[in-house]
Amino acid sequence: MSEETLFVGPGARLKARAWTRGLSPSGRVALVSEPDVWRRWGKGVERALSFAGLAVYRHLLPSGEAAKSWPAVAELMDGMLAAGLGRDAGLVALGGGTVTDAAGFAAALYLRGIPWVSMPTSLLGQLDSGLGGKTGINLAGDKNLAGAFHRPRAVVCDPEVLASLPPRERVSGLGEGLKYGLVFEPALWRWSVENLDALRAGEPRALARLVARGADWKRRIVARDPHETKGPRELLNFGHTLGHALESAAGLGTLRHGEAVIWGMRAALRLSVGGAGLSPSFALEADRVLAGLPVPLPRRVEPARLLASARRDKKARAGVLRFVLLRAPGRPVVRPVAEDAVLRAVAEML
Ligand SMILES: NC(=O)c1ccc[n+]([C@@H]2O[C@H](COP(=O)([O-])OP(=O)(O)OC[C@H]3O[C@@H](n4cnc5c(N)ncnc54)[C@H](O)[C@@H]3O)[C@@H](O)[C@H]2O)c1
Ligand SMILES: [Zn+2]
Repeated sequence: MSEETLFVGPGARLKARAWTRGLSPSGRVALVSEPDVWRRWGKGVERALSFAGLAVYRHLLPSGEAAKSWPAVAELMDGMLAAGLGRDAGLVALGGGTVTDAAGFAAALYLRGIPWVSMPTSLLGQLDSGLGGKTGINLAGDKNLAGAFHRPRAVVCDPEVLASLPPRERVSGLGEGLKYGLVFEPALWRWSVENLDALRAGEPRALARLVARGADWKRRIVARDPHETKGPRELLNFGHTLGHALESAAGLGTLRHGEAVIWGMRAALRLSVGGAGLSPSFALEADRVLAGLPVPLPRRVEPARLLASARRDKKARAGVLRFVLLRAPGRPVVRPVAEDAVLRAVAEML
């Protein structure tokens, strides 16, 4: 599948002529969003699409995880069919990770697949979930169990839309943003730490820079491993083995994804000292930075549940937990980790 083109920058959402190039021979697109994002940003994007000469069928998914369900995706596809969209139509997804996951999944399925553009509006989306072509929905209360790889033709990250993001969502996105510095680019980590107050306050220039660097890292890694089979993409999962486990052990919806990743990275830093030779002073310094973010404490989590969840992690082999650890900032490695070490790290943190 061809590689996605990244459009990053203030006002990018309005330059529809550029990011819809070749999207739809018939000049027809479904614009898919959810009520909260639509209210603030929908009309502007819809107008930009019209000015670019496209006829728009508008569809709103339910807000939050409810979008990532069979009924919501079926209703979207029924609507597209009723509107007469054919295989020569395109789709534009405007919203957080729930919208880009569900609408991208519909684009993968509809008439066996139509091209789409991902326009993530949350910080998490612009740094992670809106890029990479993993689309999908939840099944029976468990996350992301049905899905498809369907790369968008273009990803449009406009930092201006982050202005309306609730502070908690900003912190959740920062979790993913800090990950890129720790795992891939020590200079970005140092810059993020120095600018953490501005990032937390939603200062547009700081957010724009973090998004530009982070989105580019994600795109580069995905290009080397588009279907998550070869390894490099595994490294994006720093903080995610325990993060996902905490997210589900704490009860879905209790912790935001990026908040759980912040806990997961704190554990991974601790495990990196013994398991990969990370310097204790760096682990301590990074832990202090992460601990300074306002992240809720997960409810008391049962160690057995946590481990059961962690064993379902994609990286686990023959029941042995494997973690992305750091030998040093910017030098990740995947290593097996004993379960009692994981429990010790969690007990130290919580
Ligand atoms: N496909 C992937 O590779 C991938 C990776 C990580 C996470 N995910 C998925 O992404 C989802 C989480 O993403 P999310 O945190 O963006 O969730 P989300 O879509 O629920 O958005 C979070 C909240 O922010 C609001 N919001 C979004 N943009 C806004 C804006 N500009 N202004 C005001 N409010 C705004 C939304 O209405 C929502 O209430 C999860 O379902 C997760 O499984 C997917
Ligand atoms: Zn993530």
